[in-house]
Amino acid sequence: MTNKPRPVYLNGEWCDTDTARVSVLDRGYLFGDGVYEVIPAFAGRLFGLDEHMARLSRSLEAIGIAEPLGRDDWQAIFDRLLAGIDAPDAAIYLQVTRGAPEKRDHAWPGDEVSPGVMATVSPIGAIAGGARVITLPDARWARCDIKSINLLPNTMARQQALEQGCDEAVLVRDGLVMEGAATNLFAVINGRLVTAPTGPRILAGITRGLLLDLVRDERLVEVDESFITISALREADEVFLTSSTKDLWPVVEIDGQPVGSGAHSGRAGPVTRQLDQHFQALKHPQRSSR
Ligand SMILES: Cc1ncc(COP(=O)(O)O)c(C=O)c1O
Repeated sequence: MTNKPRPVYLNGEWCDTDTARVSVLDRGYLFGDGVYEVIPAFAGRLFGLDEHMARLSRSLEAIGIAEPLGRDDWQAIFDRLLAGIDAPDAAIYLQVTRGAPEKRDHAWPGDEVSPGVMATVSPIGAIAGGARVITLPDARWARCDIKSINLLPNTMARQQALEQGCDEAVLVRDGLVMEGAATNLFAVINGRLVTAPTGPRILAGITRGLLLDLVRDERLVEVDESFITISALREADEVFLTSSTKDLWPVVEIDGQPVGSGAHSGRAGPVTRQLDQHFQALKHPQRSSR
């Protein structure tokens, strides 16, 4: 292993990415029976922490796992993880599984089995350039609002995009655009900012929510939370993706066709750039004079 090992919290113990070992009976490993979060920290400061912890609670409740730790315990883990990594911007990865009962069984174990808890950290790299995306049928289940560790359809979609020389797959269900394989999607259409509504078909992205709050608070552009048809997406003036590690990521090409027209064709458009500026100020309030 060439990279420096990163710290890992695992079921009450501290180890690192070289030494951490999970039981083969852990239900996360056997069934994908667990949920996760990715929480970014910019310049050492966790961003959107309350929102991420609230989503974790919703995911845990949705699959019937009791909260394994209190907020102070989590905070102590995050502090130690961030202290253990030498990078200006980093992402905490945490996951909670239904634990490791003695026997593999579809039926859930009782309370005597404690949840499996793991948290680690990695640097967030800079994004170079705009995203080229492909569209694909959405092959996921009907509870995409749960941040489940079952990500097989997402990984297959992302892999297909990469194999076609692109960056992300945009998932389409019944002719309507849901989101990316690991991102939410926004389009600028006739001067309005349009994005899929939250519900069982998409993940309620934290970046998505923070951006919408910002846009509404500062009255930057009119918002329309409704599904976009695939044909409207192809005609959109601007398109961008959001996620905790990618912020606002302009889409410059969809299925080989440039996004937008005129001077902005195939480049980040003016609304995307304006929203990104406001979002960067939210991320780095100490650098902002606003
Ligand atoms: C399917 C999906 N949608 C959207 C997102 C973006 O969510 P967030 O902004 O909370 O990172 C992710 C992030 O991993 C995701 O996996």
